Amino acid sequence: MDTSSIVILDFGSQYTQLIARRIREQNVFSVVLPCSASSAEIQSHHPIGLILSGGPCSVYDADAPAADPGILSLGLPVLGICYGLQFLTHHLGGKVRSAAKREYGPAHVSLVPEQAGNPLFAGLPASLDVWMSHGDEALELPPGFALTARTANAVAGIADPSRNIWAVQFHPEVRHTPRGTDLLRNFLFNICHAQPNWTPAHFIQSTVSAIREQVGDGRAICALSGGVDSSVAAVLVERAIGDRLTCVFVNNGVLRKNEFLQVQQNMRDKLGLRLVAVDASDRFLSRLAGVLDPEQKRKIIGSEFIAVFDDEAKRILEQQQGSAAWLVQGTLYPDVIESSSVKGPSQTIKSHHNVGGLPATMKLKLIEPLRDLFKDEVRRIGRDLEMPAEILERQPFPGPGLAVRILGEVTPERVALLQEADDIVVREIKAAGLYQQIWQSFAVLLPVKSVGVMGDQRTYAYTCAIRAVHSEDGMTADWVPLPYDLLKRISSRIVNEIHGINRVVYDITSKPPGTIEWE
Ligand code: XMP
Repeated sequence: MDTSSIVILDFGSQYTQLIARRIREQNVFSVVLPCSASSAEIQSHHPIGLILSGGPCSVYDADAPAADPGILSLGLPVLGICYGLQFLTHHLGGKVRSAAKREYGPAHVSLVPEQAGNPLFAGLPASLDVWMSHGDEALELPPGFALTARTANAVAGIADPSRNIWAVQFHPEVRHTPRGTDLLRNFLFNICHAQPNWTPAHFIQSTVSAIREQVGDGRAICALSGGVDSSVAAVLVERAIGDRLTCVFVNNGVLRKNEFLQVQQNMRDKLGLRLVAVDASDRFLSRLAGVLDPEQKRKIIGSEFIAVFDDEAKRILEQQQGSAAWLVQGTLYPDVIESSSVKGPSQTIKSHHNVGGLPATMKLKLIEPLRDLFKDEVRRIGRDLEMPAEILERQPFPGPGLAVRILGEVTPERVALLQEADDIVVREIKAAGLYQQIWQSFAVLLPVKSVGVMGDQRTYAYTCAIRAVHSEDGMTADWVPLPYDLLKRISSRIVNEIHGINRVVYDITSKPPGTIEWE
């Protein structure tokens, strides 16, 4: 991509991703790299400015993350945030110490009056409400630096304008710093002289031409799930190489009601993709028979998916002998950072299945056109590609599908029951105008039977749990207090319309300690 960018070096802060997002909201492209990135790697992104993120460590910790101080000699404007300020202080000859009074949460910052013309604070009031989160503070400023802002307890901002190095102790990227976006805009436009040209149209154009160049006269295959990420990735690649892209969509027997047909229609008719649809339901369901353990179910579905996709891909590639083969994946930035962040990969709570295991056995080269983006940015790109709203606004759906929402054994009868219940939940939530405001809303089938009465008949049937959660990224979630009348409608429709379910309960567990899916 030929767009100039802001490179953010990640020292492990939970807010690093937010810095990237805030910058792209200003239509300026930004890339997050681990703090250990070499100068050459940084320069390959055509940076016009560098941001050093916050981080959980102290600069004096034995394992404190460090960047190559050579990055400060690249002639680029630099903005240090929190740990970034302490890193600059420490490496440029100042002193950092453990603060007598730690600051976490809201704080007031006063700008130093002599700094009235400071371009980082241009247009901002002399007193700012900010969000702090630090245990260390700068004690002595490095030579050449001036104090630009302070709190009652500590240094809040420093700068060396002659070297174009700026730093703040607080977090301008979080919403709790109300004027934080203005400060970031000042860095981008007053200091780095960025052009706000990172628009979806620009991204699409440069990505499509990069893919065209990369693939040459080769061919590509893509495993489509019907969700936002793989669909947008496929459409971008299709724009670049047309029908030399073949998409594969597998029915694993645990899709939602009518999903196998609907996804095919969307992908073929609405998006014009060349699609091979494989109905492997029997293969999956027979391997799931008798299996109760959640992890085992996930592993079976993951490995069966790879086996089915592998067969199809080999067949497709054999027909297209001789041309180099590529695998398209809808990997997003949060997936990338999880494995490359300075914090290292997080603990596996559940094995997520994707096609990540494929290239090693199939020797396919990867195309990941969305690997620098967040989900909302992918949706923005999808809208510009004129993709249908029903694809772009789809709530996330797990790879192992309804299997992780059917507790106990997955049988065809139980899948059919849950498909009906899920369909009622989705339709009612959509009718109430809530579908897009909620991260996920769905039904879960419990292997618990209870006694009920319908008409004058005794019933003895399954229980269905309703789950609706708000979340930013799926990592944490809060249950949604759905309106009572909506819950009432959902419950009465499920019990009346589905023979086999006679009781509905509502899940009021947040994550943590619960997870979003039940298995
Ligand atoms: P949990 O249940 O771990 O889910 O709180 C977090 C988010 O991830 C989705 N999820 C998956 N997505 N493959 C996926 O692509 C999977 O195996 C998988 N398991 C869970 C889940 O729907 C929620 O949005």
